[in-house]
Amino acid sequence: MVNVEPRFFLGCDYNPEQWPKEVWNEDIALMQRAGVGLVSVGIFAWARTCPEEGVWDFEWLDEVMDNLDRGGIKVSLATGTASIPPWLARKHPEIAPVDERGMAYDLGSRQTWAPTSEIYRRHSLEFLDKLARRYADHPALALWHVSNELGCHNRHDYSDSASAAFRVWLRNRYGDLDTLNHAWGTAFWSQHYSSFDQITAPRVSTAQRNPGQLLDFSRFSSDALLDQHRAERDLLRTITPGVPSSTNFMCNSVTTDMDYFRWADEQDVVSQDHYLHHFLADPEVELSWSAALTRGTAKGKPWILMEHSTSAVNWQRINKAKPVGGLLRNSLQHMAAGADGICFFQWRQSAAGAERFHSALVPHGGPETRVYREVCQLGEAIANLSELEGSTVEADVAILFDYEAAMATATHSLPSEAVNYVDAGRDAHRALRARGINADVVSPWADLSGYKVVIVPTLQIVADDLAERLRTVAESGAQVLITYFSGISDLTSRVILGGYPGAFRDLLGIRSEEFYPLADGETVRLDGDLGELTARVWTELLQTTDAEVLARYADDPELGGPQAGGPAITRAVRGSGAAWYLSTRPDDLGWRTVLDRVCADAGVNPTVEFEVDESGADPATDPGHDLIRRSKDGQHWLFALNHGARPLTVTASGFDLVGQREVENPQVPAGGAMVIREA
Ligand code: GLA
Repeated sequence: MVNVEPRFFLGCDYNPEQWPKEVWNEDIALMQRAGVGLVSVGIFAWARTCPEEGVWDFEWLDEVMDNLDRGGIKVSLATGTASIPPWLARKHPEIAPVDERGMAYDLGSRQTWAPTSEIYRRHSLEFLDKLARRYADHPALALWHVSNELGCHNRHDYSDSASAAFRVWLRNRYGDLDTLNHAWGTAFWSQHYSSFDQITAPRVSTAQRNPGQLLDFSRFSSDALLDQHRAERDLLRTITPGVPSSTNFMCNSVTTDMDYFRWADEQDVVSQDHYLHHFLADPEVELSWSAALTRGTAKGKPWILMEHSTSAVNWQRINKAKPVGGLLRNSLQHMAAGADGICFFQWRQSAAGAERFHSALVPHGGPETRVYREVCQLGEAIANLSELEGSTVEADVAILFDYEAAMATATHSLPSEAVNYVDAGRDAHRALRARGINADVVSPWADLSGYKVVIVPTLQIVADDLAERLRTVAESGAQVLITYFSGISDLTSRVILGGYPGAFRDLLGIRSEEFYPLADGETVRLDGDLGELTARVWTELLQTTDAEVLARYADDPELGGPQAGGPAITRAVRGSGAAWYLSTRPDDLGWRTVLDRVCADAGVNPTVEFEVDESGADPATDPGHDLIRRSKDGQHWLFALNHGARPLTVTASGFDLVGQREVENPQVPAGGAMVIREA
């Protein structure tokens, strides 16, 4: 994958430009002690390397590269284009991105460039050209780190250059205005366009904006950032054809604006940044989901965790430090999901600047700290895991994830803002994980043929061929489960008429005529073959055509609609499989009940038998466990990671590579982690 020996490596962002030279030698010694194998250098060093137009200073970087090489540490060299230097911003204020009210962002932070700015593009490539030629043959160079988290702060830019590029993008997509006007439904509210020149990036307006335009603008914005990646990567391929490149993704539950399944096709290796989101109820459950999503973008191949944190971050309201052992356990969570490299932001905790309270490998307190000690323990653990190189993760269950559907669900004017695109997929993943079942998260165009269960959560917009593809999968024996607010519109956001869920009506054997979204906090009871369940967010008025009803909405006058007493969960036999419809959002126990039945019908079993006393645990906040197997050439390794407060016993025996001892049906203590080479 990347020319780093060993291939399972520990790494970090390394920003020596923030430090006096005296520190640099100690850096190398401490990196060696911790077992650091790869560092990302120069991510925000454009202004240091080119402090004024035409003035270049590479000497500091020469020294850093040479030091690292002598220390046996490989470099993921950043293209350095993530943040522009002040001289460029002042000379060309038109580079600045513009917000949706038309206000330009000033410099003083980072990523203050419009993705469509030609001036930015020209300067960034000039800078990169010089940098790449200088280090093309440097022995430490192992990987190019293109830009940094493209779109983290400038994903939606409403500048004039964005409007101009958007018009070009629209011409390419639609060809002519009639097609565009139809797709956007511009007959509504007198929005008919008679010239492409009338169209702009959708800045704020008096009321709700056109949903088709918003969706296309999101697609365009993702493409515009990807274009910058392509331009940098293509230049690098001409200068250093043998060196792979990657740009670090942000596959997580809150960032759905960059279409990473499409971006992944343009990467030599997928790399990912992830931080625990303490503003969500379930940070470690979220981590597990994000790592599975990253594996999906990498199409099952090994990937690199380019950044996470050793302890606290500095950008949440309250920045929680990690508990003892959390650093190792979180790192192993990513490895369990297929990461071969585990890297962090950043080497030394900054003394100044906006991230001075963000954790690092070497904290403000220096190496005599619990964090640095835990970093060294992680380095040892990673070395002990090197035999897993090239192993991959397999799953019987696929959860479809579609960035475009996420973009569509983030637009306004929908039946309920309580439908968050990521929720239902994560619910399913969480419930499966609680049962010890591992799932892949895959794109809508992924090959689904090998899966026993395929889950399609809240897929509002649907490509023409998907229903047929799902039918084929079901007919050949899979259980296909589709949830509420799926199959509603075509890819332009135009509703498919004749009853919901338009695209999936026949496949599911149902027809629904009206949505009854629930108020915040409101719940609904379901009863039937699956027992008593509780659900929230969504209900609908449903009839079956050739499906059986497995749960009904309780006939409860409080529900206040004709859906009371009607079908809520249905199942239609299709060939040797079935197509299920889940018309509401069950709570966690409800999801487990539904998926227990789906998995039983599909013959899907847990990764390993296990026991945990879950009594008293609140499923909404219990961080649970990860039980995931990586395999290679008939050899299997079981990751048994216990994030919860109760001991976890697994029915497995072999050699635990973390604890370095033989184990038989071991108990993984609360907060503990094992990677068992199975006998
Ligand atoms: C992102 C960036 C890093 C740093 C971290 C802090 O991942 O890529 O430069 O800002 O966040 O969490």
